[in-house]
Parts: sequence; C-alpha cells; structure tokens
Amino acid sequence: MHPITEIQALPQRRYDRLAVSFHWTVFVLVALAYAAIELKGSFARGTPPRALAMAVHEWAGALALVLAVPRLLWRLLRGAPAPEPGARWMQLAGAAMHWVLYLFILAQPLLGLLAMNAGGHLLALPALGIEVPALVAPDPALKDTVKDLHETLGTAFYLVIGLHAMASLFHHYMLGDDTLRRMWR
Ligand code: HEM
Ligand code: HEM
Repeated sequence: MHPITEIQALPQRRYDRLAVSFHWTVFVLVALAYAAIELKGSFARGTPPRALAMAVHEWAGALALVLAVPRLLWRLLRGAPAPEPGARWMQLAGAAMHWVLYLFILAQPLLGLLAMNAGGHLLALPALGIEVPALVAPDPALKDTVKDLHETLGTAFYLVIGLHAMASLFHHYMLGDDTLRRMWR
C-alpha cells in the first residue's frame, strides 16, 4: 500500500471535481508565474511594467503554494483512481512523475519566497497593506544559494512539465485511453 504505486486507488475511474479544479487552477497559476518572469526580462530595469511582472510572478507562485497544501492533503486522504490499463513501467513512471510535480509546487514557491526574504525583501501587496512575514532573516549567502536553486528548478521544470503534458497527450491520441479525460472535468 505504498502511495507511489497508487495502489490505494479509488474504486471510481476518474478524478473527483475538487482534484480536477485543483489541477487546472494550479496549472494556470504556474503558467502565469512562468509567463510573468519571462515577460519581466523584456522590460527595462526600474520601469513599472517590470515591477508589475515581478509582482504577478510572486503572487501567482504564492497562490499556487497556498492551493498546493490542501490539494496534497486531499490527494493523500482521497487517493487517486487506479491508472488506466497499460504497461507496469508506464504506470510507475506516471505515479513517480506526479509525486515529483507535487514536490515542485510545494518547493518552488517556498524557494522563491526564501530567496526574497534572505535578500531582505518581504512579499507584499502594498495596495492592501498585506505583507507576508519573513520566513528567514536577511542573509546574502543563503539568498544566493536559494535563488540559484529556484532558478535551476524553474528552468528544469519547463522540461518536466512538458514531459508530463506530452505523456497525457500520448495517452489521449496514441493509446486512446481515458487518462486525459478523467482529469478534464
Ligand atoms: C510555481 C511557482 C514558481 C515558478 C514556476 C517560478 C519560476 C521561476 C523562474 C523560471 C525564474 C527565472 C529563472 C531564471 O532567471 O533563469 C524565477 C525567478 C525568480 N522567482 Fe520564481 N517561481 C515561482 C514562484 C516564486 C515565488 C512565490 C517567489 C517569491 C515570492 C518567486 C521569486 C522569484 C525571484 C525573486 C526570482 C528572481 C528574479 C530575477 O532576479 O530576475 N518565485 N522563478
Ligand atoms: C498542459 C498541461 C498539463 C496537462 C495536459 C496535464 C494533464 C494531466 C493529467 C491527464 C493527469 C492525470 C493523470 C492520470 O490520470 O494518471 C494529471 C495529473 C497530475 N498533474 Fe497534470 N497536466 C498539466 C500540467 C500540470 C502542471 C503545470 C502541474 C504542476 C506543476 C501538474 C501536476 C499534476 C499532478 C501533481 C498530477 C497527479 C494528480 C494525482 O494523481 O493526484 N500538471 N495531469
């Protein structure tokens, strides 16, 4: 009954509505975080659009983290439907990939937040006077390490998320099974 094998599978063959909503909301937030940080580079330093792109990046990422916690709990409590019939290695690779993605949506925003705090900045929504308390005190060495990690993971996960998305399209179009449909609605 190890979770990685997804043997604690639900009797039904599809994800429930909450799991589907979590999946696609987090997808949109992660896509927004990526798009904003890419756009940021195209604006000159010190300009308002650049600051806005950074703020969108930080808040989309932070929101992904806020949703990742109940999402993971829901997953651990509820389980997932058994994988579609197919080769055992594919089912195991899919399950391992899913746990890596869960780890990513927890670790990546946390690393971003740590990098900001260690650099002496707070995550803030100035218009509403909201400031997220610092997780760590300013520490330039920690900032460099954590920022490097955040950037490396951010780059690596373009590939990982791409593989995940391609796998689901492969299931849908080549294998013709319900893998994509059961996470759809
Ligand atoms: C799922 C959420 C997130 C993803 C996918 C993500 C991804 C990325 C990527 C791809 C980069 C650029 C790496 C590079 O330049 O090579 C980056 C930079 C950065 N991110 Fe995130 N990030 C996320 C969440 C956050 C959060 C929540 C914060 C802070 C609250 C944050 C703060 C930063 C900072 C400070 C940088 C460096 C920006 C710069 O100096 O240009 N990130 N992130
Ligand atoms: C175009 C983009 C994406 C597509 C087409 C897609 C598709 C899917 C599909 C079809 C499943 C269900 C797999 C199954 O039934 O075994 C799934 C599960 C999952 N996806 Fe995605 N996904 C995408 C993006 C993302 C992103 C950006 C993340 C997070 C960074 C993510 C995280 C997950 C996780 C954690 C699961 C496992 C759900 C569980 O079993 O609890 N996905 N995805």
